[in-house]
Amino acid sequence: METPHLASFITRKLLLWYDAQARVFPFRGPKDPYRVWLSEIMLQQTRTETVGPYYERFLARFPDVFALAEAPEEQVLKAWEGLGYYARAHNLHRAARMVAGERGGVFPGDMEGLLGLPGVGPYAAAAIASIAYGEPVPALDGNLARVISRLFGVQEDVGRPETRRGLYTLGLALMPPDRPGDMNQALMDLGATVCLPGSPDCARCPLREECVGFQSGNPGALPVRKPKPAPREVSVGVTVFTCAGRALLLKRDKALLKGLYVFPLAEGDDSPESGRALARSLGLAAGAPAFLAEARHAFTHRVWNMRVYRRETDAAPGVPGGVWADAAMLAALPLPRAMDAAKRGALALLRQTGTIRV
Ligand code: ADE
Repeated sequence: METPHLASFITRKLLLWYDAQARVFPFRGPKDPYRVWLSEIMLQQTRTETVGPYYERFLARFPDVFALAEAPEEQVLKAWEGLGYYARAHNLHRAARMVAGERGGVFPGDMEGLLGLPGVGPYAAAAIASIAYGEPVPALDGNLARVISRLFGVQEDVGRPETRRGLYTLGLALMPPDRPGDMNQALMDLGATVCLPGSPDCARCPLREECVGFQSGNPGALPVRKPKPAPREVSVGVTVFTCAGRALLLKRDKALLKGLYVFPLAEGDDSPESGRALARSLGLAAGAPAFLAEARHAFTHRVWNMRVYRRETDAAPGVPGGVWADAAMLAALPLPRAMDAAKRGALALLRQTGTIRV
């Protein structure tokens, strides 16, 4: 069969390219499992350029798995603030507690074992196992799927599990026994700098001659992907309840943004009156609404179109899961990016109040 020879030829060529062209990132330093795990979890859904500084700050704050396991969840979420997809931070913390508490700080030593950690799916497990342990498994994410489907001219819909399995097998054939971590990262770099989603820069590609997509004349047509349904647009009314220089924040217990602090909000109603039902359910006597800000935030399956209002209340009663935060507290608590506009508006209000009162 020709494929193994072709595959190892491609692998050698790409590794030569990688040796000369590898991108330099803070997370491409020491290959201990804690660091690799942390960076691969961050990199799963966030751009490499964004991850760099977060990774360094996070590591300075939590230098090893014990430090992370011992930290209160709120500190972990705070360090994660802005990276999005907060379920990752919850799972990261849970996994750290498992590794520190049940395994004496030792990470599972192969892909199979890594899959047992919360938040570690096949992609991350393969990335970690190949980079940290040299296990020859392909880290098949969207980027690798694109590169491999072009390279081998895969015409099936990459959204289908059978196609993913086929791509995985092709990826497996590309893994060299000695440098699988570098090979995965070489494929990632190729996907990020040359084999780009819209218009691949084939003139700069070291694998042009071997690439079926290039030979076909239209590599940009690959991978074939059936369009996903558009995310659902939801109107959201956010109310900043203020009282004597403080604003009410609620800790989310819903799956979306769980554990983060948000201003009281009504999904499905962005009218000024949305705050009335919120006030009632929170036991607040609130004044009339004043418009504060407008914002839009896209999650994976949902888009929030937010209108933010402020209502002054005459008392600040205790609210289950809630805190009345002054400006300093509001800045310190972990809030999701979706609340950025509301937070800016609220901070301006609270600082004004503070000035008047001083
Ligand atoms: N994306 C996910 N993991 C990566 C890595 N190790 N290097 C570059 N991009 C990545």
